[in-house]
Amino acid sequence: MNILVTGAAGFIGSRLAERLLELGHRVRGIDSFTDYYPRALKEGNLLGLRGQGGFDLVEADILSVEPGVLLDGVEAVVHLAAQAGVRRSWGDNFAIYTHNNLLTTQHLLEAGKKLGLGRMVYASSSSVYGDTQDLPMRETSACWPVSPYGVTKLAAEHLCGLYHRNFGMNTASLRYFTVYGPRQRPDMAFHRFIRALLEGGTIRLFGDGGQSRDFTFVDDVVAATIAAIFTPEAKGQVFNVGGGSRVSVNQVIAMLEEITGREAKVERLEVAKGDVRDTEADCGKAREILGYAPQVSLAQGLAAEEQWVRDHLKLLQEV
Ligand SMILES: NC(=O)c1ccc[n+]([C@@H]2O[C@H](COP(=O)([O-])OP(=O)(O)OC[C@H]3O[C@@H](n4cnc5c(N)ncnc54)[C@H](O)[C@@H]3O)[C@@H](O)[C@H]2O)c1
Repeated sequence: MNILVTGAAGFIGSRLAERLLELGHRVRGIDSFTDYYPRALKEGNLLGLRGQGGFDLVEADILSVEPGVLLDGVEAVVHLAAQAGVRRSWGDNFAIYTHNNLLTTQHLLEAGKKLGLGRMVYASSSSVYGDTQDLPMRETSACWPVSPYGVTKLAAEHLCGLYHRNFGMNTASLRYFTVYGPRQRPDMAFHRFIRALLEGGTIRLFGDGGQSRDFTFVDDVVAATIAAIFTPEAKGQVFNVGGGSRVSVNQVIAMLEEITGREAKVERLEVAKGDVRDTEADCGKAREILGYAPQVSLAQGLAAEEQWVRDHLKLLQEV
C-alpha cells in the first residue's frame, strides 16, 4: 500500500515509517522540520529512511502543499504531524498549535474527501480527557482537556469524526498515552531525566512526583497505528492506546537510577498549568477490535531509551 506519514521526521513518525517499509509498504513522508526541537535530531531519526527504495520525503508544511500533489497515489494517511507539548500551548503560542494541529487536519480531510482517500488514521492524545479521577479512562469518558494543546487534539479528533459521519470517510483516531522509547522528544520527561542522570545534572520535576502516567513504548504505539490502518472495523472509531500499567514519576526515577547506576538530584518545581495528575487507559476496545496488546514492559522500554540517549549523548550536547 502507498501510505503518507505526516510528521515523518519526528519521534513516532520516523519509527512508524521504518516499520511500514519493513512490512513492504511504500511510504511518502512529509515534515516541515518545525523548530520545536533541533533539526539535527530529526535528521538522525531519518537516517534509516533516507535513500531507501519505497521512501520519499517532502519537506514542506502540510498547509502549503496542493491536495492533489500531497495525496497523488496515496491510499492511506497517518496524520502524526503536530505541535506537541502541553506546557507551551498557552498564550501567543496557541496560533502555532491551531496551525499545526487543527488546520493541517482539516486540510488533509478536505483533500481526502475531494480525492476519495481510502483511509486516515489520526494521532490523538490522552490529553483530550483532562484531569479526572474517574480511572481508567474509557473512550466513552467525558473529555474536558485542561491545556490548549488538548483542546486542539480533541477538536481535530472531532473533525475526523465529522468527515466520517457526513462524508463517509474512513477515519480513525488513536489516543496515545505518554509515548516513550528511543528518539523520544528532548522536551519529554524520560529523555530529560536520563540525560540529567548520565551528565550528573539536576532533574527538574514539576510537582511532587506522585503524578502517574500510563506510559506506552513507541513500538507498541506503532503496532496499534498499523493495525488501525488495516482493520476495516476501525472506521469512524476512537481508541485508547496505553502501555498497560500506571506508574508514578517517582517510581520511574527510581527505575532509571537503577538502570544508570547513578543517584538522581531532583529539583521540585510547581505543577505546570495544563499537566494532569493521573492517566490510565482502558485498552479493551483496542484489544478487541485492533488486536492490540502492548509487548514492551516499562523496564525493557526504559533500558532501550537509556541506551539510545547514551549512544546519542554527544549529538544531544552539541545541538
Ligand atoms: N509523544 C507522545 O507522548 C504523544 C502522546 C500523545 C499524542 N502524541 C501525538 O503523536 C504525534 C507525534 O508526536 P511526536 O512525539 O512524534 O512529536 P514530534 O514533534 O517528534 O513529531 C511531529 C513532527 O511533525 C512535524 N510537523 C509539525 N507541524 C507540521 C506541519 N504543519 N507540516 C508538516 N510537518 C509538521 C514536526 O516538524 C515534527 O517532526 C503528534 O500528533 C502528537 O500530538 C504524542
